[in-house]
Amino acid sequence: MGKVTVTEHPLIQHKLTLIRDVDTASKDFRDLLTEITMLMGYELTRDFPLQDKQIETPMGPMIGKEIAGKKPVIVPVLRAGLGMVDGLLRLIPGARVGHIGLYRDPETLLPVEYYCKLPKDIEDRDIIIVDPMLATGGSLAAAVDFVKQRGAKSVRALCLLGAPEGIETFRAAHPDVDLYLSCIDEKLDDNAYIVPGLGDAGDRIFGTK
Ligand code: PRP
Ligand code: URA
Repeated sequence: MGKVTVTEHPLIQHKLTLIRDVDTASKDFRDLLTEITMLMGYELTRDFPLQDKQIETPMGPMIGKEIAGKKPVIVPVLRAGLGMVDGLLRLIPGARVGHIGLYRDPETLLPVEYYCKLPKDIEDRDIIIVDPMLATGGSLAAAVDFVKQRGAKSVRALCLLGAPEGIETFRAAHPDVDLYLSCIDEKLDDNAYIVPGLGDAGDRIFGTK
């Protein structure tokens, strides 16, 4: 069974309060999302395997460590997931980036796919799906379906906020996927928005409200 990790570091909680605030402007929202993603990325990458690397320091030879294996693939769920890409790329500059375009139909609340572009060899790489909001869980579950259908074997997901009911739905659909969140919020409202949440993540990142 995949694990659910809630990264409750004080810096993350402090920045979460700022990002949730209705008066936080888009530029600050984007900066905070990048900063929180980097802090969460520290936890997400904790189990990455290492291998030895022979180097020379100015004082002589030593055997250092480096991350082993192929570079992971970061897969943002468009649009809002784009706001988490830079933070992870700063930690893992060699990572590949795939894209999955999904929007939630306002009537049915079901995810609708409109774009998918992934590296060819995803079966050999760790996949990190990023999307700030896990509300009903439908979008994240669909994104994981896409990468699995295209051969992905190792998948983890990074979200800022999750609603309890969405987390349960997602875990039932993909019990093998490790899920990282910075907070589990209270509930969904009648329009399936997370409460207290932060509103519409895509609109807040891109100023489209
Ligand atoms: C938001 C969010 C998730 C989805 C979460 O995207 O970024 O992808 O809703 O909802 P769910 O868990 O109920 O599926 P949205 O559909 O608003 O699209 P956007 O990012 O293009 O604005
Ligand atoms: N999508 C968002 O952007 N916010 C929510 O609270 C739910 C879905």
